[in-house]
Amino acid sequence: MPNVVAPVGGAHDPTMRNVPTVPRGLVGLQGLPAREIAAYLARAEELEKLGEASQKILAGRRIALLFFEDSTRTRTSFVVAAQRLGASIVDLSSATSSVNKGETLIDTARNVEAMGVHAFVVRARQSGAACMLASAVETPVINAGDGRHEHPTQGLLDILTIARSHRRDSFDLSGLRIAYVGDVASSRVARSGIAGLTALGAKVVCIGPPAMVPAPIASLGVEVSRNLDAELPSLDAVVMLRIQFERHDEGAKGPPAEPKKSSPIASIREYRACFGLSAERTQRMKPGAIVMHPGPINRGIELDADVADGPRSWILRQVAHGVLVRMAALERWAKA
Ligand code: NCD
Repeated sequence: MPNVVAPVGGAHDPTMRNVPTVPRGLVGLQGLPAREIAAYLARAEELEKLGEASQKILAGRRIALLFFEDSTRTRTSFVVAAQRLGASIVDLSSATSSVNKGETLIDTARNVEAMGVHAFVVRARQSGAACMLASAVETPVINAGDGRHEHPTQGLLDILTIARSHRRDSFDLSGLRIAYVGDVASSRVARSGIAGLTALGAKVVCIGPPAMVPAPIASLGVEVSRNLDAELPSLDAVVMLRIQFERHDEGAKGPPAEPKKSSPIASIREYRACFGLSAERTQRMKPGAIVMHPGPINRGIELDADVADGPRSWILRQVAHGVLVRMAALERWAKA
């Protein structure tokens, strides 16, 4: 008997899927080298300058949106980004797709893949879902937020916003000190932002109560602080995070009248008094320091309305930058 075992699969075996060993796409910023992060940001800026000419870049290409968790801003931003590149969109939401009939995310994606799409944009409740999907399909996957894990395009848009507000054209952020304030433990936005900002040389401090900013978070290369007032004068940007009530209490749609037993805070009033950003508090900030928030905002809890709409707020610029970085990500992964 020949001792050579016939290879399973390979180009001659039509049943074998050519799934890459290294998943393709943008599933997170953790582990990405600074030059790759800077390349997305630089391309986002070039695409902005291209204007209407960007329409040809993804002409004839199809982007599948697989959003299995509520999203307005991120989903719309990906749709606008795809349209600005001339791509068409295949939209599958959990309400209408077979995922509600028990079909798994991977099965759904493989079926859509067989129809011929050029990139998936996926949002899911489960941490790690984007990476799992990217390992199961040949088509590149862009993570639009998976549980508490990562939200890389939000990280990129936040970094672009910080770089622009401090005129760092080369995306070298050394010397800047950035804070994430609030529910860091639940936040995929913070996890992606921390990875990208620290890779580009910024210092990051996470500020909040112990249940939201547990001390081991320092292992991500950040400082931990419990005192917003003490930190404010040394910060160049403050990213206020939403308290993610739905992650503490399955099914919650918004702030409860009183925090549930499972909540990391005992009282919303007390939280606001310690960690909420009010107009009075912003007076402690450096000239030129900016206020950011990924949205949706719990106005009057983590961020007061007059600050959200005030002169230091770069929140709407974050939204505009979101389209640009998503164009850069879609171009990179969906282009022929
Ligand atoms: C964030 C998210 O979904 O992770 N929002 C967003 O992408 N616009 C943050 C949040 O939900 O608080």
